[in-house]
Amino acid sequence: MPRRLLSFACLVVVLVGCARSGPVATTVGTAAGGTAAGTPDASATRPATASASPEASATPTPSAPARVDCTKLKCVALTFDDGPGPQTPTLLATLVDKKVPATFFLVGRMIKQHPATARRIAQTPGMTVANHTMIHPMLTRIAAARAAAEITDNTKLIQKTTGVKPRYFRPPYGLHNNRTDAVAKKLGQAVVLWSAGALDWQYDTPAKIVEVTLPQITPGAIVLAHDIHPWTIKAVPSLIAKLRAKGYTLVSLDDILRNPRAGNTYSRGLH
Ligand code: NI
Repeated sequence: MPRRLLSFACLVVVLVGCARSGPVATTVGTAAGGTAAGTPDASATRPATASASPEASATPTPSAPARVDCTKLKCVALTFDDGPGPQTPTLLATLVDKKVPATFFLVGRMIKQHPATARRIAQTPGMTVANHTMIHPMLTRIAAARAAAEITDNTKLIQKTTGVKPRYFRPPYGLHNNRTDAVAKKLGQAVVLWSAGALDWQYDTPAKIVEVTLPQITPGAIVLAHDIHPWTIKAVPSLIAKLRAKGYTLVSLDDILRNPRAGNTYSRGLH
């Protein structure tokens, strides 16, 4: 097949794969796509709201969640990508109220718009800040040096803004390769994909998001959602209640992965 045609065919595969499905089991070092490729997961294009007020509002401080053994319990970890956004503080308050830990894969461009929110996430017990690049590009489709800078620069920005050194990296659209994995390894970050997608770039009602997410969840699941969407934030209380009703314990990535190795890829956790 001519090269251009081949590229196009690959893109189609990636897009269709993403739009439909669930998670792609990605092996370390491959460029296999994750779920969300080609979707409007582009945090970065969202306009900034200049108002600083919602970010500055106080969020109650939760008690630190107890460490749990995910080889014995049915664990699930929630992750939120592409923020911080204007409504992230609302989500944070919900998570604190429900005593649910979560990981936020932050985009540098959004951190610059909402630095106080990034700090607040990092300072809230149970919450983890993680790396989702500066401007959310397809890392496997840009020059290696640029891809490396995307990962490294956001690591520095997260550290500078929150005081926390991120230990998890999620490549936008799940697109990664040996080179991006090597950068993550050097920075001490595990490459974290997901096993269940909220598909909140496709559906825009809380009920639908809960409906499509729940059947994808099995013990050890890592759930991908986006805190830039108001419908996602509205779906979270119901999602939490329904997961708990099914006997799931909501845990942090630290608990579900338990000592992950930098540079290795994880789509799900212990079960
Ligand atoms: Ni993303």
